[in-house]
Amino acid sequence: MPTFGKGRINRKLTKKRKLETHIYSKNGRKFLRERRRYPVDNSSLNSYSVRFNLNINNWIKKRFNKTKKPVFVLDWGCGKGNALTELAKTNKNVKCYGFARDSHNEWRNNSHVKFIQNDAESLFRYFKNGSLDLVISRLGLLHLGNGFFDYAVRVSEKLNQGGVLVSDIPSRDAILTTENFCGKYNNLRKKKRRKTALKEKFVIPSKGIDVEINWVSNIMKIKKVS
Ligand SMILES: C[S@@+](CC[C@H](N)C(=O)[O-])C[C@H]1O[C@@H](n2cnc3c(N)ncnc32)[C@H](O)[C@@H]1O
Repeated sequence: MPTFGKGRINRKLTKKRKLETHIYSKNGRKFLRERRRYPVDNSSLNSYSVRFNLNINNWIKKRFNKTKKPVFVLDWGCGKGNALTELAKTNKNVKCYGFARDSHNEWRNNSHVKFIQNDAESLFRYFKNGSLDLVISRLGLLHLGNGFFDYAVRVSEKLNQGGVLVSDIPSRDAILTTENFCGKYNNLRKKKRRKTALKEKFVIPSKGIDVEINWVSNIMKIKKVS
């Protein structure tokens, strides 16, 4: 098992999250306003596949045929977990994990997916390095803004060889202004790159990963090669 711990429904807010609720006053009375729910949190598996131009079901089947081991999938920022539930129902060789800092009632009776409710920084203690085959994140990781790229590289350490992470990206600037990207990774980018390049591919040998960024559809794909 690559994980420990379980998602907990209606877990008490952490101190950090409590700060995110804010107090406003109206006519001298004070009210507490909670952070707003996300407008999209129940996307289907098909909408993930279309967004990432990747048939997730087929990918899982191929992966299983190759490794003959259950395929471990993590949805980072899973919302209600609809996509994972569909995936688990149609593939018996898959183990699905949903990660999000907000819990949902829909998680309660869902025996197909294991949910982990925690903040981004805590993800790393739930999974061993090399334990995941596929990490998908639709409208999830991009909430990390400028920290997105470094964080995604750290998550890729959890991938098994041949494993893939796909995510939409916050913006071109959020990646290019990443301190690491400009310093450590920048010189790895193709020398002849054009500012207007639509796609970018480079390798980070120290991490054993191939990175592919599509600036048009705003998708990043990381493949663990060694
Ligand atoms: C817009 S919802 C996307 C839900 C789902 N991927 C979909 O497409 O239906 C964003 C998700 O990212 C999670 N999220 C955002 N910031 C997070 C953070 N810092 N740590 C953990 N989860 C986060 C939220 O809890 C939520 O589940």
